[in-house]
Amino acid sequence: MLTAPPIAEDDYLCETTVEQQNVLDTIKDIYEKLLNESNRDEVFNNEINVDLHLKYVELYLDEPLPDPYYVLDASQLWVIYWLTNAHVTLSGEDLLDDLKQLVSQKVNSLVIDEGRGGIAGGPNMHMGHMASTYVLLLLLVLVEDFASVDRIKDNLQGWLLSLKNDDGSFAMHKGGESDTRSTYCALVISSLFNMDTTELWAGTRQWLSSCQTYEGGFSGVPDTEAHGGYTYCAVAAFYLMGHQEGDFNEALLLRWLADRQLSLEGGFSGRSNKLVDACYSYWVGGAFALLESSIGTDVFNKEALISYISNCCQDLKRGGLKDKPGKSPDFYHTNYALCGLSMAEYRFKNDKGDAYSFLAEERVAGSSYTIPVNPAFGVPVRSIDKAYKHFHRI
Ligand code: FPP
Ligand code: ZN
Repeated sequence: MLTAPPIAEDDYLCETTVEQQNVLDTIKDIYEKLLNESNRDEVFNNEINVDLHLKYVELYLDEPLPDPYYVLDASQLWVIYWLTNAHVTLSGEDLLDDLKQLVSQKVNSLVIDEGRGGIAGGPNMHMGHMASTYVLLLLLVLVEDFASVDRIKDNLQGWLLSLKNDDGSFAMHKGGESDTRSTYCALVISSLFNMDTTELWAGTRQWLSSCQTYEGGFSGVPDTEAHGGYTYCAVAAFYLMGHQEGDFNEALLLRWLADRQLSLEGGFSGRSNKLVDACYSYWVGGAFALLESSIGTDVFNKEALISYISNCCQDLKRGGLKDKPGKSPDFYHTNYALCGLSMAEYRFKNDKGDAYSFLAEERVAGSSYTIPVNPAFGVPVRSIDKAYKHFHRI
């Protein structure tokens, strides 16, 4: 029997309603043109212009960044990670030795007091920051500079402990905010570096569980709005600790994640009633891939996501990938759209519920543009495998 929905739909016209209509009109146009060009029974080509995007990344890796990038002064390590990770994920090739050395030098120049103060995001008197320290780790893993980690790892453990809160969460920096992002970053560092986690992780699992909202996704701190970015951090954090039954309400989470995939666009939004954005291909797609690895079957429409990324997010003049049509490409969206593409191009399996046992099976043999990205870390599976063997002495 049909009943009235529990909450009446309102017809209040707000800024987002108008923006959403514009996005829908634009994407409908793109898909209609493609349908007219192709035989209606065929699927779209979904081609990715690999050479063009690699050139886009190489240009920014080779040249000093133009002046307006000064706003990213505290995010220098992030910029290097977005560019290098995008390159490796799309080319399938390791970075050149010269570049590896440059990255190591840069990263080491931002280590504060041999790790006792964490790692700064940039050189101009920035303080040690959990997110920069997490990115430093990803970069050292990408360039295989394990010796630098071995040198500072014990000091970093002390720094991490100094940022631990009584409720189990971690702060971003001394006096800084604590949320599922900072907590995820602390777990990445302590898990991969094989630190003693008895004291470090006490109460963390329970605190993360308390961040699942009534909608099903996770918020940054308890009792706030569920968001794709925070949801990724929380779900990946459980896998870093070893996912246990009871960590979260899986059915509710799956339903919320499924609601993120927009029916016409094919890509994901980050939260209820918001617009599609290519970066959520990884934040939401990564959370999906983690769950899928335990469930054993595809849990989202992978063809639709591939279609959104390839038909709506490539800049086919300059190279690079963008949030949505009408926007400009940038490093962040280039990296996370490609990581998200990897979530759609592979089927991940993992019968241990941990962060190191992902087996990636290509869904359609020979059709992937990306190499498999480890959904708990955001760098290629093969890089994490190597680092794991080193730090866990296997
Ligand atoms: C809202 O942006 C964005 C957030 C509330 C935070 C997003 C968090 C992440 C992306 C995770 C970061 C992860 C690490 C590892 C540091 P918005 O309001 O501009 O976008 P929206 O309209 O799409 O919600
Ligand atoms: Zn985005």
